[in-house]
Amino acid sequence: VLILPNHLAVIMDGNGRWAKARRHHRSYGHIRGAVRAKEIIEECARLKIPRLTLFTFSTENWQRPASEVSLLMRLLIKRLRKERASLMKNNIRFECIGNLDRLPRFVLDVVKETIAVTAHNTGMTLVFALSYGGRQDITFAMRELAQKVLDGRLLPDAITDEHITQSLATGGAPDPDLIIRTSGESRFSNFFLWQAAYSEFYVCDQLWPDFSAADLLIALQSFASRERRFGKTGEQLQVMESRWPRSQPG
Ligand code: FPP
Repeated sequence: VLILPNHLAVIMDGNGRWAKARRHHRSYGHIRGAVRAKEIIEECARLKIPRLTLFTFSTENWQRPASEVSLLMRLLIKRLRKERASLMKNNIRFECIGNLDRLPRFVLDVVKETIAVTAHNTGMTLVFALSYGGRQDITFAMRELAQKVLDGRLLPDAITDEHITQSLATGGAPDPDLIIRTSGESRFSNFFLWQAAYSEFYVCDQLWPDFSAADLLIALQSFASRERRFGKTGEQLQVMESRWPRSQPG
């Protein structure tokens, strides 16, 4: 049995380089990247990973050439429409985090429709981080807390980690246990900042359009073999483990 993450997050990087290496246009890399995303989503659902977050479009990605942004937007809604049946068949609930106000109307409509249609599914929760940035997430959370203080509903000294956690886009969802990044770069690129405090980070060299279900299993095996100490010593963990053995899903 493999100890699976409760929440897996993936930074899907390398579509552009994949296309360039094949003398194709970047857009072909994104198209193939979307095909991979489908495969990985279905594999995670099959493995019964409770929550999967895909870093699909960052706040910084708005600065790419308009033609590339437009292609990514059109690709996104095309895939969401096309894969709706698969989401239903696999009992996947679709959610989004990020500043959705910046999405064009025609994209937002399809995103909202997909969220609504899948809202009652009870299997894996699939989260697209769309127009998402970690600092922006924290900034919005701070605004919310500042407003509560201003309204007299919260005292500054009473603010705890938990208030901040709850005010983030991820709300009450568990933090990612494992973050996978493809195409070799060991950077967070403004993804989950607060949420990644104790996440395991796994970087692999494959470019995203090459990242297969088999590569996912290798990443999951690496995760399962790590000892997560959360700031404690290995000995303390052994005591905890003997009292509260980890449940082993799957
Ligand atoms: C990184 O490649 C990828 C993105 C900009 C976003 C991810 C988008 C997809 C996988 C396609 C759409 C996905 C779905 C789920 C519909 P890059 O362009 O940064 O690659 P590079 O670093 O090699 O240029």
